[in-house]
Amino acid sequence: PTQIPDILSPEFAENPYPVYRAMRESAPLIRHEPTDSYLISRYDDVERAFKDKASHFTTDNYDWQVEPVHGKTILQLSGREHAVRRALVAPAFRGDDLQRKFLPVIERNARELIDGFRRTGGTDLVDSFATRFPVNVIADMLGLDKADHARFHGWYTSVIAFLGNLAGDPEIAAAGERTRAEFAAYMFPLIEERRRNPGDDLLSTLCAAEIDGVRMSDEDIKAFCSLLLAAGGETTDKAIAALFANLLAHPEQLAAVREDRGLIDRAFAETLRYTPPVQMIMRQTAVDVTVSGGVIPAGATVTCLIGAANRDPERYREPDAFDIFRDDLAATTAFSAAAGHLAFALGRHFCVGALLARAEVETAVNQLLDAMPDLRLADGFEPVERGVFTRGPASLPVRFTPVRG
Ligand code: HEM
Repeated sequence: PTQIPDILSPEFAENPYPVYRAMRESAPLIRHEPTDSYLISRYDDVERAFKDKASHFTTDNYDWQVEPVHGKTILQLSGREHAVRRALVAPAFRGDDLQRKFLPVIERNARELIDGFRRTGGTDLVDSFATRFPVNVIADMLGLDKADHARFHGWYTSVIAFLGNLAGDPEIAAAGERTRAEFAAYMFPLIEERRRNPGDDLLSTLCAAEIDGVRMSDEDIKAFCSLLLAAGGETTDKAIAALFANLLAHPEQLAAVREDRGLIDRAFAETLRYTPPVQMIMRQTAVDVTVSGGVIPAGATVTCLIGAANRDPERYREPDAFDIFRDDLAATTAFSAAAGHLAFALGRHFCVGALLARAEVETAVNQLLDAMPDLRLADGFEPVERGVFTRGPASLPVRFTPVRG
């Protein structure tokens, strides 16, 4: 229907949530010419596409959406091919490896950044923390040189712009392909070096890994690292900024989290529901699929609107309220497939870094609240969100009593 603003309109970019509501209510399946895709917005429909019990939804769309900028990654794969490669990195992101080996890395990286501004009395949490912390962590885990963090940030921003290039802007497309070449030129010598001198890092793990007795190619390893930097950087960056924006806008909930750090988990889960960093994910239909009364033909691209599904009143009471105490989002199961919110997707591509992201957020919130007991937004500042494919606060100027010594 013409009265619903387009997802490429400035109105949508400013605030997509009223548009999502109109879609869920009156146009839950939209044939969208500009992106040559079908938009779906209801919780049940998006959940079904992600879980994909019937094998109707593939990630074949990633052959054109992801391949040109990353190369071949686990996002494009399915079945055993996918499972074997995903299992190469999954252990590092959960359980013992995460706790013993990487939690100290996470804690050190948070401390280093906070030390940079805790004596100042004010900072922009987006610039000085959120955009640096997750990328520094993943760079350290991979054994890359953090001194290059500004380049990593530039690269993953360009990669994400490519993935979210809904309007097909040729400049964004060209920049993405340049990024792929620059990243390859950066990584190939490192891969060669790590093959000769393995270290205790993820890049060395990937270099040594054998799949059915065969080592991965340099190209495949580079593609894996490219995915990890972008998937681990951009998303967690926006999640941390959104979490603080949400809590600072609800001082009583911020106070509750400050008092009881066990609530960080809920604050994170509710942030991912309310303001998901990845607002939309594409799939491709393998067969004709009936969705909310309409038919999506086989071979079509489906744009799954996570930001819309996460606020479906059929699933959440008062979905437009940020409430870490809501009882329809089970925080304790927020990182299992039964999570509720769809911010990490579901099914076989469910975010492999979800527990790493949670550990990063928990560390960040704990350290920032400890260092800044009176953290507040700069006077008169109203946070503004930016982005359509991924979305988060553009900046977050805060004030606090500077730490002495
Ligand atoms: C997959 C979101 C943090 C690595 C995904 C997917 C989503 C997502 C929605 C599914 C993509 C699809 O199904 O097409 C997020 C959010 C994060 C986050 C919101 C932070 C709050 C991380 C971190 C890492 C990571 C820290 C680690 C480096 C990955 C990888 C995949 C993935 C490798 C692909 C998994 C597969 O294809 O099997 N993420 N992610 N993510 N994520 Fe995350």
